[in-house]
Amino acid sequence: MASEESLDPENWEKFRILGHKMLDDMLDYLRDIRKQPVWRPIPNDVKLKFKALLPKEGQTREKIYEEFKENILPYPLGNPHPRFWGWAVGNGTPFGLLAEMLAATMNPNVGGGEHIANYVENQVIDWAKDILGYDPNASGILVSGASIANFIGLAVARNKMAGYDIKKEGLRASKKDLLIYGSEEMHNSIDKAVFLLGLGINSLRKIPVNDKYEIRIDKLKETIEADLTAGFKPTCIIGCAGTINTGAIDNLNKLADLSDEFNIWFHVDGAFGAWCKLSPEVKDLVNGIERADSIAFDFHKWMYINFEAGCALIRNREDHFGTFNLMADYIAHQDRGVASGDIWYGLYGPQLSRGFRALKIWMSIKEHGANKYGRIIHQNIRQARYLTNLIENEDHLELLAPTSLNIVNFRYNDGKSNEKNLNKLNEEILFHLQENGIAVPSSTTINGNFAIRVAIVNYRSKKKDFDMLINSVLNICKKL
Ligand SMILES: Cc1ncc(COP(=O)(O)O)c(C=O)c1O
Repeated sequence: MASEESLDPENWEKFRILGHKMLDDMLDYLRDIRKQPVWRPIPNDVKLKFKALLPKEGQTREKIYEEFKENILPYPLGNPHPRFWGWAVGNGTPFGLLAEMLAATMNPNVGGGEHIANYVENQVIDWAKDILGYDPNASGILVSGASIANFIGLAVARNKMAGYDIKKEGLRASKKDLLIYGSEEMHNSIDKAVFLLGLGINSLRKIPVNDKYEIRIDKLKETIEADLTAGFKPTCIIGCAGTINTGAIDNLNKLADLSDEFNIWFHVDGAFGAWCKLSPEVKDLVNGIERADSIAFDFHKWMYINFEAGCALIRNREDHFGTFNLMADYIAHQDRGVASGDIWYGLYGPQLSRGFRALKIWMSIKEHGANKYGRIIHQNIRQARYLTNLIENEDHLELLAPTSLNIVNFRYNDGKSNEKNLNKLNEEILFHLQENGIAVPSSTTINGNFAIRVAIVNYRSKKKDFDMLINSVLNICKKL
């Protein structure tokens, strides 16, 4: 008989030495992250290394780790850096790194069963409900991110509001078109959810916004009334708690009122903005979130938790369970043993096998306490105001949208160039900032204009980083 093989190290002591070295190196890396360029282009010869043939035989771990240090670690997205402000991407923390190691050690499948990871996830979801002032009996599930959380919220909304057994009959049995409402500024994960749920993008009513980029309640009401008259089924109103472009927060209470008046599901996409609830100074901005039937948000954005960590909350547990529950003999629950227990997350979302996302969240919230998160969130908002002031004090810099939260949109404008040239010039400025490793803002289009977009979900940023950004922009302009 052939000898039996295993994937464990053949020499644990040697393995331990390598493991300790990796941990030390990574802690040094994070400690000194400010000294690194935020981002650097990946040379072609490095990219070619990832076109290699399948390794048929193993290599030494030491060599693999050297390759990681040479060809992978130097070319990150850059989000742990203090001057990364692209999209809405949080830093992750050093303790999060350790938590991921612990979670990977236990390596549970958190689809269900009687094991502790389910209880940790339940705990974390209870804390989220507490932070958001949400119904303590509400249901929830950790997911990869707000995209999937939006999908889950809309799936439950669709199934509940359809008024018949949509799981069995499918959408073709629907007598009326099911319509979804939200502002023009909604994140495109809503569009994705709508088409994945078979509703078709045409059933997404995008309502105009006011000059603060918040949904126009008057237009929303008019549209719902017209759709009712035309025989459609208004199914879900989506409120934005922090839009991706500008950080605008819709009037959630007014949206909840409309959803009550017309009996429409109310879903809030609070991907990052929901966390305003943690800061006494800004928590009132998201008043009304607690009235939502479902909420989507991310721990990996403004809670700075290591990727991936999103969450969906559904007020009514039966609605949530009813949408995703599907029994099978091979996952039958038992009264005793490993397949007992009440918490079966695999029945509350599309995934059956799920990782132990909750541990890093549980450890991080315990590490810092909710209050500190609130203070750092407010610090980011103050930094956005600081940056806004710097821009307003420069003759040739121009804000492209009001700064309402943590997102600043601006551009260089010498007052002499036409819009086309300004768009090109500002795009060039952004490339220079990124390619020279100075800072990573992302971009968006505001009223047809190319905007350099700084979204601050970064606990490592300091005021001096924003001074450096503005000085660099002005210097780049001089060179260009
Ligand atoms: C408002 C909003 N909703 C949804 C999402 C999607 O979140 P995720 O990328 O975590 O899936 C984002 C991402 O930036 C967002 O800003």
